[in-house]
Amino acid sequence: MILTIEDLDLAHKTVFVRVDINTPVNPEDGSLLEQSRILEASETINSLSSSKVVVGSHQGRVGRYDYISLEQHAKSLNDLIDRPVKFVPDIHNSAAKNAITRLKDGEVLVLENLRFDEDESKDFEPKEASETKMVQNIYHLFDACVLDAFATSHRSSPSIVGFSFLLPSCSGRIVMREVQAMDRMLKESDGRFTTILGGSKIRDRLSALESLIEIKRTNRVLLTGMIGILFLIARNQIKYSLEIDDEEKYLIKAKFLLETYPNIFEIPVDVAIESRGKRLELPVAELTPEHKILDIGARTCEIYTQIINASGAILMSGPPGLFENENFEDGTHALLTALASTSGTTMISGGHLSAALEKLGIKDKIDHLSTAGGALVLYLSGAELPLIKALEKSAEKSIT
Ligand code: 3PG
Repeated sequence: MILTIEDLDLAHKTVFVRVDINTPVNPEDGSLLEQSRILEASETINSLSSSKVVVGSHQGRVGRYDYISLEQHAKSLNDLIDRPVKFVPDIHNSAAKNAITRLKDGEVLVLENLRFDEDESKDFEPKEASETKMVQNIYHLFDACVLDAFATSHRSSPSIVGFSFLLPSCSGRIVMREVQAMDRMLKESDGRFTTILGGSKIRDRLSALESLIEIKRTNRVLLTGMIGILFLIARNQIKYSLEIDDEEKYLIKAKFLLETYPNIFEIPVDVAIESRGKRLELPVAELTPEHKILDIGARTCEIYTQIINASGAILMSGPPGLFENENFEDGTHALLTALASTSGTTMISGGHLSAALEKLGIKDKIDHLSTAGGALVLYLSGAELPLIKALEKSAEKSIT
């Protein structure tokens, strides 16, 4: 059991709200590419209209172009909600503490990117997390903690499991909605559950994949994106290097999955590469190590569309190609269009796919749009998510 914001009396209280407004960023100028997670987060913040709300989120990963300040996010939030939103370029030192203590009822304060504190990128046990500087420096300024970062529920960082270890905690609106939607989808799949995986984050996807199949949550897996390339290498269909850490380990896992479950996976039969600034489609057999794979090809889209049409429920997580570049958006658009017109229950996961659906104008044709990526796939795979566990523990404490 977990508590919701209706279960705690949060009026006139100072509340730490952990959201996930980690947003795709334009690599050229650092601007935000879309607003879906910010829009979603505004719902819980809006409903805490008489509390002093302190918003925390991470953005990007250390060392990457998307590891940026939350100042732009705070401005967007300010435009979306009808109360003043302030930003402080600090997390738990004096500037943040002063700003938190000066908050009045109804005001909202956004803290700086929580990953600017290195502990936020690490995993901790809840007690250990509660002893980090981030939590120790400011938790006493809060009366309660609202966890609404469903998309980060697979991380056990201080802001997810540390504050909630010490404070009365409950879920926000997004967590409740996501959990209900996924449970409904599993019920409606009628044993014909297809998972389409893409994007660039291999680690989370691979670990979830095995459990998804093992516990019979999915019986077809259509691979695209980086994980599709990984499986092409694992099946010796291409000689290629993804140039990522732990590639060898991932390849061993992919080979194991292919051997153990030979009838479950579909792997691209053709792909798109860049040639003289244009899209060029090639059958997989014609690829050489110099080619940079940037999308799936038209034949693969046809095969995948047939499978989508025969499925009871379809989850698509992560884009099949570099859809931000018009030359490589075809695969993403073809599969999303197939999802939009099929009769099965459909769910898409991750902000990138939301942005692509928006461009196609078919957002309303998908049954559930989740802004979560890896966390959602892990939830479906039956994994225990640290954020959900933290909420359950907090509810237990409040009862005893
Ligand atoms: C996501 O976009 O999946 C979440 O914000 C988590 O981000 P992370 O994979 O960098 O932890």
